[in-house]
Amino acid sequence: MDKNKISPSPQTALAIQVSAWTPAIEPEDVALEAALGWPNRTLGWLRAAFNAGARRQSAWDLGRLGDLEAGDVRATAKAATVFRRGVETISDTISEMIPGTASEVKSGYRPLVLQTSPSVTSFLNSISSEFSGRESRIFFVLDESVAKSWPAAAQLVLKFPFWIFQGGEAAKNLASTAALVKQIGQHTESHPEMDLENLTIAAIGGGVTLDLAGFVAGLLGCNHINIPTTLLAMVDAAVGGKTGVNFEPWGKNQVGLFHFPERVIVCPEFLQTLPKDEIRAGGAECLKHALLAEDFALLEKWAKFLRDPVINHANGSEIHSMITAVAKMKEVFVQADPFERGSRRELLNMGHTIAHSLEGVGAVLQKHQPSLGLRHGSAVAFGLMCKIHLMVAAQPEAAETGQKIMDCLINSGCLDDFRRWYSGTGLDSTELWSLMVPYLMQDKKIKSGTPSSCRIVGFQWKSVSGKAVPASFEVSMDNLEAAFKKSLLS
Ligand SMILES: NC(=O)c1ccc[n+]([C@@H]2O[C@H](COP(=O)([O-])OP(=O)(O)OC[C@H]3O[C@@H](n4cnc5c(N)ncnc54)[C@H](O)[C@@H]3O)[C@@H](O)[C@H]2O)c1
Ligand SMILES: [Zn+2]
Repeated sequence: MDKNKISPSPQTALAIQVSAWTPAIEPEDVALEAALGWPNRTLGWLRAAFNAGARRQSAWDLGRLGDLEAGDVRATAKAATVFRRGVETISDTISEMIPGTASEVKSGYRPLVLQTSPSVTSFLNSISSEFSGRESRIFFVLDESVAKSWPAAAQLVLKFPFWIFQGGEAAKNLASTAALVKQIGQHTESHPEMDLENLTIAAIGGGVTLDLAGFVAGLLGCNHINIPTTLLAMVDAAVGGKTGVNFEPWGKNQVGLFHFPERVIVCPEFLQTLPKDEIRAGGAECLKHALLAEDFALLEKWAKFLRDPVINHANGSEIHSMITAVAKMKEVFVQADPFERGSRRELLNMGHTIAHSLEGVGAVLQKHQPSLGLRHGSAVAFGLMCKIHLMVAAQPEAAETGQKIMDCLINSGCLDDFRRWYSGTGLDSTELWSLMVPYLMQDKKIKSGTPSSCRIVGFQWKSVSGKAVPASFEVSMDNLEAAFKKSLLS
């Protein structure tokens, strides 16, 4: 037998046959793979997986890799570890075939360790003294906008190894991943005593910076600390271990890892320099977490704050506790299902089915008119509104509760940005809905035909059932469309 071939494993009879795929190689792959330290053809196999419509929950039939050259087995194994944050059934099979590979497949769940800091100055002082004398053990990744808005943060990172990242969604890609891998490589080369296991990457920035830095930490086997500077990152991106980057044309967060931060340090003072629309975009996720926990008092507090989101001495400590409360609410769902194997963690996607399809429409319209891009948070706020309309239609006895929630959503101002976007499109409700349907079908992995129903996340009202029961449930497309159109009028 050719020594470069690997014996097939007898298991995984029902799995996808990876050897039937054709790697989709592109000319620039070799350089990018080399910079990432990935085996040659990893990107080609990744594209093949997307082209084949593979899912992370489906087992990749690596047993069939006996048909492939050893180099391709390594490339496929690497692709499987980062495909939509890692194929579920990879570890056993791969470790059986290539000893030593399993350790890089998935790191374990770490519960949320949330530290808070009353001011940016006190945060900077404490992190500076914590790593004083062992500067080579921490590597800062700092969002460029934060560096400009908070010069003291930029001054701090200058004392340590660092990389200033010119963020933005467009830079959330594998080229930036490779650039950071390279920076860290240069740092460890100049400190041969350092091994990656003892290195901590500290990311200061919005969700884009945190997702990228956490991904690199996972790839290299380092620890990472998340220091979020946007509201969205404080309550959502920093918590839950999802890391990764966009991979075109398949879109957002398609390549990544689950890699949980060692800790999250929240310092709400950073929000003082964040534009109000960005705060409201994160606010939509806060409203969502409060809704999922069915904590109406917290929902009202958030709605009131978001109406005019100014953080000052007078409200600083209250906002602080509101942020930690909703971050911890997310952690409850994460803890129940850290790697999103079942449907529990999926509940965090409440309002996101509609939101993602609107964002898809926004991305296309933006190509013709740049102002027509839609913020994720603004789309989520509208998605929540649709959800409440649906829930009230299904449980008319909960109309009063539903109205209370809708008032909160409207009063928060989180829908204003969506409304501006909608009127800018010049579309009527039927036209917008018909543009959304293909995205809904893609989201639900419906390949052909028009679906008659769709599975979304909702919950039973506590006031009706006596107990809050978030659950995912089936809704007809007609009802979804009706709720969508009602929401446009509210
Ligand atoms: N990992 C997860 O679980 C998770 C969850 C939700 C969202 N996300 C990801 O998070 C990203 C969105 O995060 P985001 O909204 O924080 O976007 P972002 O990181 O792009 O930040 C928004 C803008 O604000 C700037 N900025 C950041 N902090 C600032 C501050 N304090 N003052 C002034 N400007 C500041 C940034 O440079 C950027 O221009 C998306 O890529 C999304 O996929 C990840
Ligand atoms: Zn979201």
